[in-house]
Amino acid sequence: MQMVRLGKQGPVVSRLSIGTWTFAGDALWSSIEEKQCIEVIHAAMDAGVNLFDSAPNYGGGRSERVLGLALQGRQDALVATKFKVDGKSPADLVRMVEESLQRLGREAIDLMQIHWPTESKSELDAAFDTLADLRSAGKIRYLGVCNFGRRDLQDHGGRDLISNQLPYSLMWRVVENGIAEKSKALGLGVIAYSPLQQGLLSGKYQSIAQFPENRKQTRHFSSTWAATRHKGPGMEAETKICLEGFNAISFETGIAPTNLALAYVLQRPFIDVALAGARSVAQLEELLKTFTVELDETVVNRLDMVSASLLQAAGDNPDMYQTIGRVH
Ligand SMILES: NC(=O)c1ccc[n+]([C@@H]2O[C@H](COP(=O)([O-])OP(=O)(O)OC[C@H]3O[C@@H](n4cnc5c(N)ncnc54)[C@H](OP(=O)(O)O)[C@@H]3O)[C@@H](O)[C@H]2O)c1
Repeated sequence: MQMVRLGKQGPVVSRLSIGTWTFAGDALWSSIEEKQCIEVIHAAMDAGVNLFDSAPNYGGGRSERVLGLALQGRQDALVATKFKVDGKSPADLVRMVEESLQRLGREAIDLMQIHWPTESKSELDAAFDTLADLRSAGKIRYLGVCNFGRRDLQDHGGRDLISNQLPYSLMWRVVENGIAEKSKALGLGVIAYSPLQQGLLSGKYQSIAQFPENRKQTRHFSSTWAATRHKGPGMEAETKICLEGFNAISFETGIAPTNLALAYVLQRPFIDVALAGARSVAQLEELLKTFTVELDETVVNRLDMVSASLLQAAGDNPDMYQTIGRVH
């Protein structure tokens, strides 16, 4: 397993790390047995994965609980979780950290992240102060953020953070707009989430029509789909071009789609970690083969080209879900 230090002073983590949103068992991801989630986590650890990401809102706490069960007695694994801080008092945040710790069955959260920036700078400042106190009290080891844009980083980047978790895949490259660069300049590790574009880049889909309706949540899709949360027209024409081009490159190079998608992300100089969801040991084993793949410049250029119109359509808004972006 390739390893990397997260930020200037963070822990050494696996470049492929595993997210647990897909263990939520909810309408978005569909049901999955706890036993299967635990098997995936154990197989990942056996393969050298040491960072697992979760959140209290994944399956109403289920993902954190399952992760806690899988990692019982495994202090060699690092647990990351995150919460939204809008409208939360310091007491709320302390309670939420305690609840996550309970579900995870741990004494401390290795990486506590603010899930989304808020509109109010003073609210975020207060949240960071509370989290810093919790770190001093030993409840949190490291602090990070997710979805922080250039201005968010300008305002809060001096806060002793180790990482910024950002959406990044061939189908969502918006953070190339300076956000990834700014994160690196501040000494933060960049963690790419949804690197397989929630399965769209898995090779299972020859057209976007085949992608399950319940997963049509992001700005790729028109707001006429029930699962979307935005009000925009979507970018289905550009997503189609990208999907078809990607599948063709996979076919022509003989590189399995998931490996092609992950290698593209991991070879970006501004990406430290790809945070992927695997729903079975077989899926995980396939993802691990990415480390045997090296994309040459021609392939990377072709991938850049098939995603260029989608990148342009997404504009300067890195928020994958909302047209009125929450990232500044
Ligand atoms: N900070 C944030 O705001 C934020 C937002 C989103 C996600 N995240 C984090 O990022 C993690 C990963 O992102 P994600 O789960 O959204 O998306 P992802 O990793 O891009 O995609 C996960 C999906 O890819 C498919 N897949 C994985 N391996 C496969 C294989 N070998 N063959 C075929 N299909 C495969 C599975 O689809 P099937 O289920 O169809 O098999 C799986 O559900 C999350 O779990 C979460 O921890 C963070």
